[in-house]
Amino acid sequence: MCGIVGYIGNKKAMPILVNGLLRLEYRGYDSAGIATIEDDKIVVMKNKGRVNNLSNLSGIDKLVGTIGIAHTRWATHGKPSKENSHPHLDNSKSFAVVHNGIIENYHELKNFLIEKGYEFLSTTDTEVIPNLLHYYFNQDSKNDEKKLLRAVKNTCKDLKGSYAIEILSTYNKDKMIVVRKDSPLVIGKGLEENYISSDIPAILSYTKDFYLIDDNEIAELSRDKIKFYDSELNEIIKPVKSIEWGALSAEKDGYEDFMLKEIHEQPRAIRETVGAKLDNGKIEIEGLEFSKEYLENLNKIYIVACGTAMHAGLVAKATFEKFCKIPVEVDIASEFRYRDPLIDERTLCIYISQSGETADTIAALKLAKSKGAKTLAISNVIGSSITREADYSIYTHAGPEIAVASTKAYTSQVALLVILGMYFAEKLEKVDKSEINNLKSDILKIPTQIEEILKNTKQIQEFARKVYKEKDMFFLGRGTDYAVSLEGSLKLKEISYIHSESYASGELKHGPIALIENGVTVVAIMTNPSLVEKSISNIQEVVTRGAKVLAITSEDIKNDGLNEVIKLPKTNPLISPILSVIPMQLFAYYISKEKGLDVDKPRNLAKSVTVE
Ligand code: M6R
Repeated sequence: MCGIVGYIGNKKAMPILVNGLLRLEYRGYDSAGIATIEDDKIVVMKNKGRVNNLSNLSGIDKLVGTIGIAHTRWATHGKPSKENSHPHLDNSKSFAVVHNGIIENYHELKNFLIEKGYEFLSTTDTEVIPNLLHYYFNQDSKNDEKKLLRAVKNTCKDLKGSYAIEILSTYNKDKMIVVRKDSPLVIGKGLEENYISSDIPAILSYTKDFYLIDDNEIAELSRDKIKFYDSELNEIIKPVKSIEWGALSAEKDGYEDFMLKEIHEQPRAIRETVGAKLDNGKIEIEGLEFSKEYLENLNKIYIVACGTAMHAGLVAKATFEKFCKIPVEVDIASEFRYRDPLIDERTLCIYISQSGETADTIAALKLAKSKGAKTLAISNVIGSSITREADYSIYTHAGPEIAVASTKAYTSQVALLVILGMYFAEKLEKVDKSEINNLKSDILKIPTQIEEILKNTKQIQEFARKVYKEKDMFFLGRGTDYAVSLEGSLKLKEISYIHSESYASGELKHGPIALIENGVTVVAIMTNPSLVEKSISNIQEVVTRGAKVLAITSEDIKNDGLNEVIKLPKTNPLISPILSVIPMQLFAYYISKEKGLDVDKPRNLAKSVTVE
């Protein structure tokens, strides 16, 4: 999705802005642009395509302005083109704007402005914003220092939808204004300089001190000061937050791709995620105030998320149901929010989002809140929108995840959810303590077991080399092996563009087996000792029909017609997906590499989906 960067200080803004945009590339985009103030004028440079197409524009290196805004656009309204890319100017070229989000009523606003004589050069929704700013600025007869802020306030009152907006104006060449509603935006505080970004990693190398702007708040940035206002321009005081993430965590650090780096970071990410809550055999989760009585009264737990985060929920369902004896429903946020789910104050709704900015997940959370349920957010980003909406928030310690295809966030989410399930179970006292204690000791071994798996990736790489030209593949499993097979299949689709389907092995005979023919590749996950025999029978059915099988198992199975068997260390089936997903992540990765694709930035995808 779109990305925003901004700078105001004493250095040349252009290199900082371009560098910031490069760091936001992972979000997915189709054009890029910057605007700086040069002498008394706003200069805009923009281009279709990658940030390099922008930084190669002739004349860009002549920009010396020390204040500027920048944007990568992921087309929503209007095709990807230079005209539609941001920044957009008003007709008088006194206001430049970049915008993330969608202005839902832009038609109405555009017609209003056209009637007032304004002309439009693009087909975007954004272009109404600089022109509205100009309109309100000129309507205002009072010439004081708040005139620009009032224009921003009045413009925002007209906007319906979601937005994070950066504004430059020749009427105040030493100030930059930003405002947000339902779209992420952070301010990085430096010494005599300040930074803006839609995403912390883009400016992590400059500062670790951030202000998190809330909905409808306006910030006015000077070189040495930041003032915050509510939507009525009453000044407010905001605390500065220090982020622990190191600058290196947003770099490739010697790896060929971010995805490969992030796959290898999983032992550390899980160690830290688990270690923050489980210490000396005791689980403590700061900030969660669920009493035994509240938990006993629950009629249902919903786990709601999108994509990979939803798959993490599907794995964790088994732990909550087994240990807490509470029914768990896992739902896709975009479905949940529109299907009038049965929720009341006896329902606990858990929302998972790596970025914490996924529009559907946030909307689904707001819905549950409005129906009186308690909401708990699980995110990787401190201060992200979802954590500010939820009643309670807990965090994975995965560190910034840059590759579009989620890896370390998924395994950390599963680990954290399982810890949460055990935490509830200990309060509820419905299962034997020894069962929980065994799972605790198993989860502590997981990071070392992942390290073992990562020591030998050759087998997967070789199998990937044999099958990378295929058009379709199948992923099969039972129980939590089925839940994780959905994630394996998604990884493959996302980064290798190979069509794949995931099925519960027992469903094969009910239809999908018709698709199995000579040479088709099947990935079979079999880690649950109590289900392995059943799974093997299913796999024999595909082997006899000529399928090439990659088996991922922790059991001692006979290699009867299987093409490749990846042996995993043994663990509890409730957490085995954290191990079995690793070969599947690598499988998708190596296939993508064999095909010469961009692993980190797959086509059509964005890292964080901040619009519906
Ligand atoms: O930031 P979120 O966890 O809310 O993102 C949810 C999905 O968009 C995300 O998991 C997506 O499916 C990934 N690209 C999967 O690799």
